[in-house]
Amino acid sequence: MDSVAPGRDDHKGGTTSSSPTDQGARKPVTVRDFLAMKRAGERIAVLTCYDFLFAELLSGSAIDAVLVGDSLGQVVLGYRTTIPVSVDEMIHHTAAVRRGLAGPLLIVDMPFLSYQVSDQDALRNAGRLVKESGAEAVKLEGGDPWALSRIRSIVGAGIPVMGHLGLTPQSVHRLGGYRVTGRERDEADLLLEQAVNLQEAGCFSLVLEMVPAGLAGRISRALDVPTIGIGAGSACDGQVLVLPDMLGLNPSFQPRFLRQFAELGAAARDGIADYAASVKDGTYPSEGESYPDAD
Ligand code: KIV
Repeated sequence: MDSVAPGRDDHKGGTTSSSPTDQGARKPVTVRDFLAMKRAGERIAVLTCYDFLFAELLSGSAIDAVLVGDSLGQVVLGYRTTIPVSVDEMIHHTAAVRRGLAGPLLIVDMPFLSYQVSDQDALRNAGRLVKESGAEAVKLEGGDPWALSRIRSIVGAGIPVMGHLGLTPQSVHRLGGYRVTGRERDEADLLLEQAVNLQEAGCFSLVLEMVPAGLAGRISRALDVPTIGIGAGSACDGQVLVLPDMLGLNPSFQPRFLRQFAELGAAARDGIADYAASVKDGTYPSEGESYPDAD
């Protein structure tokens, strides 16, 4: 008798049926490692991720940290901005990444209005995000005095916080668009001051997004904690990119800073076209791709 139909666990190759910890011996990266890497001058490589399959791929790589960014809203959920993203959506996707990820530090973004209202609200939501998703740290945007207060209360409860300055997409309407921040002298001085304040409030690292390269270098040299740049030049202590963008899955998005390290969008389109044509002309499935009847 033919065996039962294969389930997802019968796939060739991959590691879907194993636990993330089965997948090789990479020592888990911690926030202390981030500081040690900065001290040693070792650059930190970070990518975003939103699902289990890519989390498995990242587990076997030299990536140091994975961020489930609220860019989730735009690149996976199809929202126009990151503003509609909810805590529940962040938890749902981060838990999926957690199930596939072993090795890199797992950081989750706090979405809009999950930390802006009060310290208590921010702590409760940060707690939910780490408890219910398995993330090891949270990230939040901004460097105003209210943000420092949120960071102190979250760090005080034992949850590491990554800061985020420069272009802070949750404030896109106040900023008047997705633009480089810190070109003007007073904006640059403010960014440097806020970066130092974020470090003092307890951030273990901070993202600098779309900041002029010279300013990002000045900020990086002024801090003991590592800066992770996106569109902020090569003097940052590390870099982060949005995974679908750097893999070429979102080819219409081409900001100056983005390098496409693969062309998966074109490969996927070709594969889908080939499949559709093969179904329609009857060449798929072949005999070898079908189960024989009993004799
Ligand atoms: O949401 C995100 O993906 C981010 C990165 C771009 C840093 O915040």
